[in-house]
Amino acid sequence: MKNKGSLLSEGAEAKVFIVKAFGMEILVKSRLPKDYRIKEIDDSIRKRRTKIESRVMYRLNRAGVRAPRLFAAGVFSIYYEKLDGKLMKDSSLGSKMLKKCGMLLAEIHNAGISHGDFTPANIIISHGTPYVIDFGLSEVRNSSEEMGIDLLLMKRSVSSSMFKKFMEGYAETARNPKPVIDKLEEIEKRGRYQIRTLG
Ligand SMILES: Nc1ncnc2c1ncn2[C@@H]1O[C@H](COP(=O)(O)OP(=O)(O)O)[C@@H](O)[C@H]1O
Ligand SMILES: [Mg+2]
Repeated sequence: MKNKGSLLSEGAEAKVFIVKAFGMEILVKSRLPKDYRIKEIDDSIRKRRTKIESRVMYRLNRAGVRAPRLFAAGVFSIYYEKLDGKLMKDSSLGSKMLKKCGMLLAEIHNAGISHGDFTPANIIISHGTPYVIDFGLSEVRNSSEEMGIDLLLMKRSVSSSMFKKFMEGYAETARNPKPVIDKLEEIEKRGRYQIRTLG
């Protein structure tokens, strides 16, 4: 694309640009080459994460789970809907919204997906409703271990009273919450899981 648009965000892994298409603003998330990686490995990581991100976004769209709409996908870039709202991490949330965030994660899990980085930095509150973004580390697989890690990441990102509200929504909406909640407890007991550096 000739017109790169304006840079919205530059993360460790990808850049997000705002571009004009179909007469509106949409987003392009591009995974650009990393010089410190061997080219073949770098290409395959960037391809894999782009592919999983578009796949998961499309699946969530089809399942009616609140996520940006996918418009198109290339080898290293995806084109998708720009949401109007604020990140959960920059918002102060009441009980009702926290519950809705828990319901959102349950819907993701009900669609057979683990998110992989489910934190307040990857939830956008738009017009009173939470939407999930950022699927480069997601998996399309019913794994209670991975789903338990989704709960753990959120637990470590918010206060215990906030997490309690979040879990009310999760337990109410998840089709099979018990094995995932058991897994969360087991992972915590193991004390083995080291949280990734977020950023
Ligand atoms: N659909 C969207 N609508 C509005 N802003 C978005 C959207 N997707 C991403 N962003 C913004 O871009 C940032 C980075 O996007 P994200 O997919 O989380 O990539 P990263 O891998 O860099 O964390 C987000 O924190 C958010 O501010
Ligand atoms: Mg992110």
